[in-house]
Order: sequence, then C-alpha cells, then structure tokens
Amino acid sequence: MEQITEYLCRYKNYNFAVGYTTAEYIDSLQSFEIRDSDIFLVTYPKSGTIWTQQIIISICELDGGLNEYPNNLEQMPWLEYREGREEYSLRPSPRLFASHLTPALLPPGLKDKKAKIIYVMRNPKDNIMSYYHFSHAMSDLESPKSFDLFFEQYLAGNVGASSWFDHIRVWHSNKDQYNILFLTYEDMLLDLRTAVTKICSFLGKNLSEASIQQVVEKSTFKTMKKDSKANYKFLPEEKLNGDFMRKGQIGDWKNTFTDAQSERVDQILQERLGDMSLKFIWE
Ligand code: PPS
Repeated sequence: MEQITEYLCRYKNYNFAVGYTTAEYIDSLQSFEIRDSDIFLVTYPKSGTIWTQQIIISICELDGGLNEYPNNLEQMPWLEYREGREEYSLRPSPRLFASHLTPALLPPGLKDKKAKIIYVMRNPKDNIMSYYHFSHAMSDLESPKSFDLFFEQYLAGNVGASSWFDHIRVWHSNKDQYNILFLTYEDMLLDLRTAVTKICSFLGKNLSEASIQQVVEKSTFKTMKKDSKANYKFLPEEKLNGDFMRKGQIGDWKNTFTDAQSERVDQILQERLGDMSLKFIWE
C-alpha cells in the first residue's frame, strides 16, 4: 500500500485508513469463497451502514439460526478489516458482512448472483456533513482543520473510500452483475417500515407483521442510540470520541453549506452522474 498522508494509504485506486488492512489481505479477497447464504451490506461511509446493519441483523435473528456475537460489529464485520477475528471461512452460515469496497476489490464470486448485496446510498450533501463530523470523532481519521478544507478533500476523493461519485457510479453501472438491492438513506428515513419490508423480501425472509414491526422499532434512531450492541459506543473512547448516532436527519447540510458549496455539489453531480437518473431527496 502506498501511504499518501499520515492517515490514508492507497491500494488499487482506493483509499484505506492507515493500519486497518494490508495489500495482501485485500488481494486474498480475490479468492475468498462466497456462499449462497452470504449477505453483504455495501455502502460509501456515512450512508447508513450501522442502521442497515441493525435492520439486517434483527431480521436474521427473528428468522432464527443466527450465531450469537457480542455486538453488531462482530455479527456483521467489515470484510476488508479482519482485525484479529477468526478466518471468515470458519464462520457458520449465514455470514453477514459490511463493506465500503468497490466491485473490483470484492470477491469475484459475488458475481454468480447467489449471495445477496444490499447497497445503501445517501445524498452527498448530508454524506459530506456526516463524514466531516465523524472525522473529528474517529481517531484514525484526519481531524479536518475546517469544513471548507474537508469539503474540497471530499470532492477530490481524498478521503477514506475515495470518491463518493465514483462509488455510486461504479456500483450502479455494474449492478446487472450482482444480486443487489439498492436503497437510499432518505427513503429509509421517510418510511422505515417499507424499507424493512423490502429488505425482508429481498432476503427471502417471511416475517409476520408483528416481527416486521419489531425490526422497525429496534432500528429507529431513538432506539439504536440506546442499544449498546448497535450504536458502536462499545468502541474504546480513545478510538471513538463522539457518536456514530449523531443527528440522523435529512437536510443537516443546510446548516453549514454556503450557497456556492451547494451549487458546486449540484454541478459535479450533474457532470459525473447526470446520465444515471438517480433521484435525491435533499430535505
Ligand atoms: S460508517 O462509519 O460508514 O459505518 O457510518 P454509517 O453508519 O454509514 O453512517 C452514520 C450515519 O447514519 C446515521 N444513522 C441513522 N440515521 C437514522 N436512523 C438510524 N436508525 C440511524 N442509525 C445511524 C448516523 O446518525 C450517521 O449520520 P449523521 O448525519 O452523522 O447523524
């Protein structure tokens, strides 16, 4: 891996946080054996990962047969960071994984369309805000000197997971190769029950109305903020000095963005993804 700043290193066109993984491990994913029962949650950072993680885990728990782990991070670890866990090949099925990776870095076996992928996208303005605040809270990320500087770094793709625009483009344009369900953070926030029902049916889980309601209640911002298995407060304070569960809103960007910054994002969105007929909810 090529270290590009104190906090970021680059491998195969993708920025990783320093110290989280190795080139050898990322390469080993090319021969990682996928099982039909695997469930992957893929996101660009700060797009609703731990939220969707809680929904998927709650659905699988109610469906039965899920091995117990101490918290959601252990139950659904990030594929790209093994961090001293057992070999993932030793995990019992169904295995649940989260990932921020791009298609080229993920196991090619996902393309046989048997394993399931859920991809969650968040509007880039709220995504920038969330990423900005999180960069202050997480000790492994560079603490931004100002919002304006972070805004430029983000637009240039000089952050962990590289460019939001590239991530969205590459996942949407390769979707036919995968068994994939696309969701948006905003749709989930506006109608959580419908999102839970969609995820259930995509995963082929036949839950009762009462169980679906239970999943919805376990996955609201309010409940998750108090749920120590789900809210990542279990990370040591020297690593996380803040909150994954920050505001959980649509439109928080309006409190910080200048008109010029908002227009810049609109313009880049048009230039880079304008041909993809994506719909965004901004407030
Ligand atoms: S990470 O680091 O990539 O795993 O972060 P990620 O989980 O993708 O994103 C964190 C943001 O998701 C919000 N969140 C929620 N919003 C609404 N409802 C629920 N239940 C929920 N759970 C997490 C969280 O608050 C972060 O967004 P911001 O805007 O910073 O509040």
